[in-house]
Amino acid sequence: MTNKMWGGRFQSGPDAIMEEINASIGFDKRLFRQDIAGSKAHAAMLAKQGIISKADAAEIRKGLDQVQAEIEAGKFTFSRALEDIHLNVESRLKELIGPAAGRLHTARSRNDQVALDFRLYVRDTVDHLDQQLKELQLALATRAEQHAATVMPGFTHLQVAQPVTFGHHMLAYVEMLARDRSRLADARKRMNENPLGAAALAGTSFPIDRHMTAAALGFDRPTRNSLDTTADRDFVLETLSACAICSMHLSRLAEEIVIWSTSQFRFVKLSDKFTTGSSIMPQKRNPDAAELVRAKPGRIIGALLSLLTVMKGLPLTYSKDMQEDKEPAFDAFDNMSLAIAATTGMVKDMVPNKDEMRRAAASGFSTATDLADWLVRTLKMPFRDAHHVTGSLVALAEQHGCDLPELPLAVMQSVEKRITKDVYKVLTVENSVASRTSFGGTSPRNVAREAKRWLKLLKG
Ligand code: ARG
Repeated sequence: MTNKMWGGRFQSGPDAIMEEINASIGFDKRLFRQDIAGSKAHAAMLAKQGIISKADAAEIRKGLDQVQAEIEAGKFTFSRALEDIHLNVESRLKELIGPAAGRLHTARSRNDQVALDFRLYVRDTVDHLDQQLKELQLALATRAEQHAATVMPGFTHLQVAQPVTFGHHMLAYVEMLARDRSRLADARKRMNENPLGAAALAGTSFPIDRHMTAAALGFDRPTRNSLDTTADRDFVLETLSACAICSMHLSRLAEEIVIWSTSQFRFVKLSDKFTTGSSIMPQKRNPDAAELVRAKPGRIIGALLSLLTVMKGLPLTYSKDMQEDKEPAFDAFDNMSLAIAATTGMVKDMVPNKDEMRRAAASGFSTATDLADWLVRTLKMPFRDAHHVTGSLVALAEQHGCDLPELPLAVMQSVEKRITKDVYKVLTVENSVASRTSFGGTSPRNVAREAKRWLKLLKG
């Protein structure tokens, strides 16, 4: 049997393997809502322009509503012989309303149809991810407000560097996610043009109104070149790229949660809700959700590279290669969403351990910079000299087996005799963070102000 949707010049049907490699219905059926919305807008436009009758358009609209209801109710039989979602919907429409269904595809091709469906889908995805990211920002900013003054060690090279606050650390991720959201918004702006009406590749001889379908489908305007339109998948690539970067951010937070929840660090405790036990070691509580979020960039970056590789070197316009755009993208978007949800859950769930974090913040001579700064400020030493003196003091503290605040004044004065007992004030972690008042710095006042600003912005 030849394909009833396009088999006019064919004598026989496809080889079984041909059918298997060619069909996309297995994965593009998830575009049914977008496909039907696009067809409704197209039919209404055709009627308005007098290309089909108003009666046919009404039949088409009713029939499409029924198809959508059948799919939503799980009563629709998808056929692989009908290749994809476009032909499956149209074929069922024909069964339901007869010949009028055959007029729907006037001035349209599956090439502009799939470009439209996927654009609408990616646009919905962007809106959904943006909402989720906003919720995650809200969760982080809420933790930041609660812990504006909770001292923890700040790290470079994963070595204790200087004391910071837990709130400041949470807000660092709020900033990253703000950039992620702005990248998605930027991609959305560029993708929000109507591809419908580009037809197969060259446009159409029918007097269509692409501005009308653009308005009906929420696009800002129609695309301007029919060849570009049918050949373009930039909108998917840009969204995947924004997702890849975002998933990398979440992966870093996930890694920190993994580290923080170890028995060596004990900075945070995750509850039963976001951990699993071990089947052999009864004492274990494993941060599996964090580990999986840490791993997700594997497939999300993979999807980006996969589609870039498919698209590179493709001649204009549509080639069937481009059908390979969907599965990795769907998988990436699903997992992006899941990763954001899991991260939001963990951020809300984790209980910071203030004592442990403070203890760690005070270790590793973390206030050495404060000591050097004191030498510069009080004794007017050049910073490089102060750095050297402080280095010697750290070495002495190490020899004494104590931290800087416990190093006796006499020992300090053996290195630099002008040091007074005043110096001890800057050696506590609380004073250290309180002194970091520069714009964007970690002082609790600054963090509290920033957390409030974000909360107002996110809730407003
Ligand atoms: N299933 C196809 C895809 O996903 C739809 C476009 C088919 N166009 C064509 N000329 N065969 O890309």
